[in-house]
Amino acid sequence: MSTITGLMAAIADTGRDERRGGYSRAVYTDAEQDLREWFTAEASARGLAVETDANGILWAWWDLHDGGTRLPESSRRGALVTGSHLDSVPGGGAFDGPLGVASALAAVDLLRRREESGALHRNRALAVAVFPEEEGSRFGVACLGSRLLAGAIDPAKALRLRDADGNTFADVSRAHGLDPDRMGRDEAALGRIGDFVELHVEQGRGLNSAEFTDHAGRGPAVAVGSSVLGHGRWRISVTGQGNHAGTTLMEDRADPMVAAAQIVLAVRKLAAAVPGARATVGRLEPVPGGTNVIASRVDLWLDVRHPEDAVVADLVERLHGQAQKIAAFEGCSAQLFEESYSGTVHFDAALARSLEHSVRRTVPGAPVLATGAGHDAGVLASVVPTGMLFVRNPTGISHSPEEFVEDDDAEAGVVALADALEDLL
Ligand code: GLV
Ligand code: MN
Ligand code: MN
Ligand code: MN
Repeated sequence: MSTITGLMAAIADTGRDERRGGYSRAVYTDAEQDLREWFTAEASARGLAVETDANGILWAWWDLHDGGTRLPESSRRGALVTGSHLDSVPGGGAFDGPLGVASALAAVDLLRRREESGALHRNRALAVAVFPEEEGSRFGVACLGSRLLAGAIDPAKALRLRDADGNTFADVSRAHGLDPDRMGRDEAALGRIGDFVELHVEQGRGLNSAEFTDHAGRGPAVAVGSSVLGHGRWRISVTGQGNHAGTTLMEDRADPMVAAAQIVLAVRKLAAAVPGARATVGRLEPVPGGTNVIASRVDLWLDVRHPEDAVVADLVERLHGQAQKIAAFEGCSAQLFEESYSGTVHFDAALARSLEHSVRRTVPGAPVLATGAGHDAGVLASVVPTGMLFVRNPTGISHSPEEFVEDDDAEAGVVALADALEDLL
């Protein structure tokens, strides 16, 4: 069976984005479908039983056996589940998502060898899960698959979400063989998850920070996750007067783009004054969007994060007030709409201790780190015991083509994941 490096190499050309650089693998596009097919083939080649559930989550089951007989599906209750996602942000890196999926497959290979040699005796089934639309880059709500599974989003709201071309999530799901009427909290599927462990590329400078690096300036290969910052997405809609770029005098304009530019600056200024806060405008859409047209409306999408939910709420409220003031000064108006919010999550303490103990056998200095990135693990933590492992990213950059993982660290991640799973099986 392939090494983690071989598995990642096999998908290195899928979904490359020549225009943006990196990868664009939005959910249910050809690129993401190709990755799902790759996963299905790799899992099947390992004898895992692959299924797609009502919410579009892929499950690859390594069932328990009695002699040569596979135990019935009821033996999947309380299974150990690992996995991640295969979709990406526009122009994203190679590792955010796929590293967790490929590492899970490679860990299954290691565990199977340990089982065959008699070193491992499993008490429960293991599944590898692949969650759709983790990034929310197509339909706007991150972790859409895990939210549906956990009942963390009203399915009616999810089904009404639209992509940039106006297609609803309901229609796109239907076109991919799913039944929208069956989507939503899935008690049977939740009952099959005893514990969930997600391995993920580290997305900041966490493992490279001075407190963890050795004399050569190299950080440990793996960390254990402690918590996820509270984070959410809001749309600020700034409305003005659409008009002609050549005939409208500067003093006669109500230009929402000019207000939007000042709102972006206000976001940075207000957030920079709050220790630990992160606020970003990463997407902005002028309507109708013509070079010789003063826009009639500009939509800005705001991403705000902080370890304390109350601080996020306060910051967003102040940003809203500031946006309204700026808009009024420019003869425009501004409205704020919440698109999604995920409160601060602390991973299961007992599971985190177990992960620390297992990982430190091969990565002695493995630290415990919080993450500023959102994850399906963060959503599942509200319904099942959940934990995370992070693999060192030497660039400290993510959601960008510069995101990176060295082969040795990826191998260390697989061993750490396999050891952690073995201790929980
Ligand atoms: C997804 O990776 C996010 O944290 O926004
Ligand atoms: Mn991501
Ligand atoms: Mn991710
Ligand atoms: Mn994420």
